[in-house]
Amino acid sequence: MINLYENADHKVIYGDVFDALDSYVPDGSVDLIFADPPYNIGKNFGHIEDKWPCIEAYVGWCKKWISLCIQKLTPRGSIYLMTSTQAMPYIDTHIRSLIHVMSRIVWHYDSSGVQAKKKFGSLYEPILFCVMDKKNYTFNYDDIAIEAKTGAKRKLIDYRKAVPSEYSAIKNPGNVWYFPRVRYRMHEYEDHPTQKPESLLNRIILASSNPGDVVMDPFAGTFTTCAVAAYLGRRSIGIDLNADYVDIGLRRVLGYSSVNGRPLEPVSKNTQRVNGNGIKNYYSEELIV
Ligand SMILES: C[S@@+](CC[C@H](N)C(=O)[O-])C[C@H]1O[C@@H](n2cnc3c(N)ncnc32)[C@H](O)[C@@H]1O
Repeated sequence: MINLYENADHKVIYGDVFDALDSYVPDGSVDLIFADPPYNIGKNFGHIEDKWPCIEAYVGWCKKWISLCIQKLTPRGSIYLMTSTQAMPYIDTHIRSLIHVMSRIVWHYDSSGVQAKKKFGSLYEPILFCVMDKKNYTFNYDDIAIEAKTGAKRKLIDYRKAVPSEYSAIKNPGNVWYFPRVRYRMHEYEDHPTQKPESLLNRIILASSNPGDVVMDPFAGTFTTCAVAAYLGRRSIGIDLNADYVDIGLRRVLGYSSVNGRPLEPVSKNTQRVNGNGIKNYYSEELIV
């Protein structure tokens, strides 16, 4: 079973990743992919199993969709790929024979739930940033640069330079990113066990795509990638095999208020949810309404 819902700029696809990519995504047509597949750790995605019989079977499945995704990228395209800390070494050693790995990013977060007493608890998830052509790819440094809190703030002069000058007021965010995980009381929360934060997608999409580009998420879940892409003026394609998650995409990305007579409503919370898509502007720290 496969179903496509679309408007001029966005596609929401209900179906298996392989069928959806084969049916609706032409080769060489996607500028940026964010792929956050099941991690093989037994999460509950409804009827979809997040547990393979062994790591080899999981990695074998990943290799297949990774190859297909790479086929869909434009010659200047990029892919960001996540998986569990346990599986990432297998994926990393495989993918470097197919595409250029530019950065190995650590998404760090705090978690009061990590109560390990016999080992160090896990407080990060790895992300690979890869490009098709390392001499020709999109990287919008100015859009993702962050404030440099050192010399520039104190108006110090860098005398190591040929012409002594003030320290730069901005810097590259580096490859260790702190973004809080999505929690129930946050405005962006949806009913999904592994929702990624808008702030994380905001940085990735700003860095590695331009307005009008096509951003694809082959395991869209809450369709956060597509919602942030839309907010940033990109086009998007999101795919998921769970019909409830596709409903979230229809609401967040295509703006549907109902489908087949069923109302599509955000999770009701006792915190105020803003109008519109509720995406945050990470520079002004204000909610966009
Ligand atoms: C780790 S979650 C993605 C979460 C997403 N990044 C977010 O922020 O909400 C993986 C998603 O892949 C979907 N999925 C699992 N197997 C799939 C398949 N074969 N084809 C398409 N989607 C699949 C699951 O339903 C789940 O929503």
